[in-house]
Amino acid sequence: MRIAMIGTGYVGLVSGACFADFGHVVTCIDKDAGKIARLESGEIPIFEPGLDDLVARNVAAGRLSFTLDGTRAIAEADAVFIAVGTPTRRGDGHADLSYVHAAAEEIAGLIDGFTVIVTKSTVPVGTGDEVEAIIRRVNPNAQFAVVSNPEFLREGAAIEDFKRPDRVVVGTEDERAQAVMRELYRPLSLNETPIVFTGRRTSELIKYAANAFLAMKITFINEMADLCEKVGADVQQVAKGIGLDKRIGGKFLNAGPGYGGSCFPKDTLAL
Ligand SMILES: NC(=O)c1ccc[n+]([C@@H]2O[C@H](COP(=O)([O-])OP(=O)(O)OC[C@H]3O[C@@H](n4cnc5c(N)ncnc54)[C@H](O)[C@@H]3O)[C@@H](O)[C@H]2O)c1
Repeated sequence: MRIAMIGTGYVGLVSGACFADFGHVVTCIDKDAGKIARLESGEIPIFEPGLDDLVARNVAAGRLSFTLDGTRAIAEADAVFIAVGTPTRRGDGHADLSYVHAAAEEIAGLIDGFTVIVTKSTVPVGTGDEVEAIIRRVNPNAQFAVVSNPEFLREGAAIEDFKRPDRVVVGTEDERAQAVMRELYRPLSLNETPIVFTGRRTSELIKYAANAFLAMKITFINEMADLCEKVGADVQQVAKGIGLDKRIGGKFLNAGPGYGGSCFPKDTLAL
């Protein structure tokens, strides 16, 4: 299949390279000219173990390319992914959707024939409806379906997470779009990765629910660490003692400085 990836940041570059490695033809698009120039000269703008090899291999095989101008790639694509940033909006903590909306406007006039528009960015419930409305307004004759397909990769383990995920979540009720998404992720059926098909709004919420739950585990064990200090208990043994219970699980129970990174703070705030 042919994929256009709008936004070649952490998620766009890793997803684009992995989809190319699955055998698809992927064009990664970004409006940052410096980033595209570096990628075209073989330089990887982020540090992610194994990504340089993966990119080089797929560029050499003719399945992965980078461009500032997505006109042709979007017209030829079976699926156009939106993987732009959704940072915290100043003032109210809401996700800033201006990049997503701008990408939808750009895509609308360029798609040609039935195209699946896939939102990979983390977006609040209802954003898929907005993307659909923008495309419909700009190009009333367009044939398309808007799908939610949130990304769960972790920075530092991103390739492994993309290629061997616990699950893939796909939010769409459109049967043609479901078939395209199944085809895009077909290599994952080899390791029996569950693909969870849901409604679009449910899929959008799953991403926030997952991040909020993981952040809550970190916050919970830190609260327990405070209590341990007061009562003379050992928080690592508490974590082990509760984590061995399969209903709780041992991951994300390391007491420490609290949660941070590029996603948990903004996503918990947005939720
Ligand atoms: N980084 C992570 O670990 C991670 C994990 C899961 C989900 N996410 C989500 O994925 C989304 C992207 O995150 P990221 O970390 O990859 O962001 P990023 O800031 O690294 O990359 C976004 C890229 O999009 C480009 N861009 C913005 N508007 C564009 C447009 N109209 N056309 C072309 N390019 C455009 C920017 O120049 C930038 O290079 C966010 O919603 C984030 O919450 C991130």
